[in-house]
Amino acid sequence: MHETVSDPASKQSASSAPKMRLGVPKETFPGERRVAITPANVEKFKKLGFEVAVQSEAGLAAGYDDADYAKAGAVIIPDAKSLLGSSDVVLKVRAPSAEEIQSLKAGGFLASLIMPAQNPDLLKQLASARVSTLSLDSIPRTTRAQKMDVLSSMANLAGYRAVVEAAAAFSRPFTGQITAAGKMPPAKIMVIGAGVAGLAAIGAGRALGAIVRAFDTRPEVKDQITSMGAEFLELDFHEDGTGEGGYAKVMSPEFIKAEMELFAKQAKEVDIIITTALIPGTKAPVLITSDMVQSMRRGSVIVDLAAEQGGNCELTRPGQLAVAHGVSVIGFTDLPSRMASQASQLLGNNMFNLVESMFGPVPDREGKHFRIDLEDDIVRPALVTHKGDVTWPPPKKPAPPASPAAKPAAGNETPKSASKSAGKASHGHGAAPEPASAGKAAAFWAILAAFLWWLGSVAPSEFLNHLTVFVLACFIGWQVIWNVSPALHTPLMSVTNAISGIIVVGAMLQISGPVENISTWLAAVAVLVATINIAGGFLVTQRMLKMFRK
Ligand code: NAI
Repeated sequence: MHETVSDPASKQSASSAPKMRLGVPKETFPGERRVAITPANVEKFKKLGFEVAVQSEAGLAAGYDDADYAKAGAVIIPDAKSLLGSSDVVLKVRAPSAEEIQSLKAGGFLASLIMPAQNPDLLKQLASARVSTLSLDSIPRTTRAQKMDVLSSMANLAGYRAVVEAAAAFSRPFTGQITAAGKMPPAKIMVIGAGVAGLAAIGAGRALGAIVRAFDTRPEVKDQITSMGAEFLELDFHEDGTGEGGYAKVMSPEFIKAEMELFAKQAKEVDIIITTALIPGTKAPVLITSDMVQSMRRGSVIVDLAAEQGGNCELTRPGQLAVAHGVSVIGFTDLPSRMASQASQLLGNNMFNLVESMFGPVPDREGKHFRIDLEDDIVRPALVTHKGDVTWPPPKKPAPPASPAAKPAAGNETPKSASKSAGKASHGHGAAPEPASAGKAAAFWAILAAFLWWLGSVAPSEFLNHLTVFVLACFIGWQVIWNVSPALHTPLMSVTNAISGIIVVGAMLQISGPVENISTWLAAVAVLVATINIAGGFLVTQRMLKMFRK
């Protein structure tokens, strides 16, 4: 379902259509230096067909003045009220204030950080102002959404900046040295939570010469941690923290207790702790207690990135640097804003990619127009108000079929039983089947065995050879593809490309048979489908590689 947002052009002819106005106000949140788009984005938005309006001095704190925007083709509007009231699409960094909401155009579209779980009243206000709001922090972490993922771009900068802040507050260099005047041991950093911010912190800490160790509840990040030169802290407690949408899940109290014991030991050894542990929409778990802080060496530093959601450290004061027991506890909530110029560039690119993705081909000026597609798997989860209604949380998608290796919910288990069941699951058995389903399974295998025995006695040996290859191919395909977690689907593409290559070769050997043979036609279809898969795989890989090219 596509819905145009007060798009005058859809009702008028292309020639007489006024352009939709895209407005960028100056941020009013105290201390916020970022701006939603930079002059570099203005031209791109204009190419999409927008008239771009920027509030006077909107980019000043980020290093972009009005003249830069005007030169890029933006209209400079002196005050927020007229900018917000005349813009069909408003792009903002922080959530709008009550006053700003009043000024927004009814029927217009707003994209900004909203944090819908924490701000139910804000959602009501936006809904009653009849604004369609896209919460940038609710964009799912999927491969397609990567280029619009504002949280990831900001967390990446925040992780880096956390190390810089730690280095500034720490009383020694991070790198170890032996000089004529004495020895300097390398600093030891522990990073809790190796998501986007955590990995960036690991990279920056290693680059400055520190010894870095890291912990995360999701076992799959172990390889990422070690590949960045850090040590993965192991916990003798098995509970997989992998949750939905590329995020972690809330861990059981037993797990939290076990990890806190690990952190208590580490606190006595390390100089710096950087915590990033958070599940979106929830309060940050307290993982570093006052006692742990007290056990750290004087002069040590804790940087708590989860400060805005309550903090991972008991002594964190959001937005402030507190010194407790001789340890600096940094709870700054504006780390990306401290690098406002770069942060705004990334934000602007994320915003452009988002808006561009919301354009579809229609018989309109320039062949495109802006729409809210409620079927879109990026737009719908992030759309929090629409047509006067609060549309958050989004409807749940039907659960995918249960994986054969599904583990029992470890959250309700004692540490011992959890580790036992995890051990079992790792051997491919998973939860003990119910007696009835065990009976059914036994009957199924018995019937299958009897069928195969009968087939073996009547079928020609050539057919049996093909059947063996087919069964082995199914088995290998299942193991290679089905057991891979969604986060690894992109790298998996190269494997599927290789498999598709084998299919093409096999099918080409068959294709030369007589036209009336069904196998010839099947081979032709196989060549076509496998070729599409290979070409698509290369295209996506190319796009991924482009993201890493300078
Ligand atoms: P993310 O979701 O990518 O990473 C969080 C990581 O914490 C995940 O890997 C998750 O598995 C892990 N985790 C969750 N619960 C855990 C637990 N109990 N123990 C150990 N690990 C646990 O999030 P991202 O994007 O890296 O952001 C991290 C934090 O940084 C968030 O709290 C975010 O709000 C904050 N942030 C702070 C900024 C600031 O200025 N202070 C700016 C940007 C982000």
